[in-house]
Amino acid sequence: MSTIYRPQSIVILTGAGISAESGIKTFRASDGLWEEHRIEDVATPEGFVRDPGLVNRFYNERRQPIIEQSVGANAAHIALAKLEREFSGSLLVVTQNIDNLHEQAGSKNVLHMHGEILKMRCTQTHKIHDCSADIESESKCECCQMAGTLRPHIVWFGETPLYMDEIYAALSSCDLFIAIGTSGNVYPAAGFVQAASQAGAYCIEINLEDSQVSDYFDEHIIGKAGETVPMWVEEVLSA
Ligand code: OAD
Repeated sequence: MSTIYRPQSIVILTGAGISAESGIKTFRASDGLWEEHRIEDVATPEGFVRDPGLVNRFYNERRQPIIEQSVGANAAHIALAKLEREFSGSLLVVTQNIDNLHEQAGSKNVLHMHGEILKMRCTQTHKIHDCSADIESESKCECCQMAGTLRPHIVWFGETPLYMDEIYAALSSCDLFIAIGTSGNVYPAAGFVQAASQAGAYCIEINLEDSQVSDYFDEHIIGKAGETVPMWVEEVLSA
């Protein structure tokens, strides 16, 4: 990053890569989740209708280490929380991750566009509830008092991501956009770099390798998020 560049408004998009060093598997790595489960089975509304037990078990397994706090924020999450505290301009973290590691690190201004593993939703009332235990097919919902109406508050394929108006508003007015640890395979998040770039933002990508949308970025920082993000944050804060 150019040291003479002094941003006023930053949008940070994070993906599975930022949580990889905390021990949460990414989606598209050769050892990723999709190897064990087909996307259609565990991440679509149709899969949930077909086999709610399987889908609930899948997310229960992902939720457990977060509840037990056996996975924790790493140096990248911690650096972004520090940036939010110390940066004098505006800063928004948009994450595709359903874990709570940004919050564990202390970030406050975080939008989970693909939902949150620690939330569940009633399919009858659409009310969102905190979720700190397994969801079972027979779990009774506290708002409708019925069993079998709860689902993970996760955006599945074919569903609309959350907070889109707020995100596009922030993208259209930021002067620095940075994407960290995301492969650029899944839209609309993969298109955020183009929206920010068209609005005049300087765009940086941090990843272990080129992503599907690398060509749209002005600058690439290659390396592990746990090492590169803290260095980048120090550069921004000292600019
Ligand atoms: P992916 O698994 O597709 O990509 C993870 C990216 O992180 C890859 O580009 C890796 O190169 C990079 N990466 C891995 N380890 C890293 C590290 N230590 N430091 C930096 N980068 C690293 O994950 P996402 O792009 O987040 O959606 O996937 C997007 C969406 O696809 C997910 O939110 C999920 C999935 O389907 C839903 O479930 C709705």
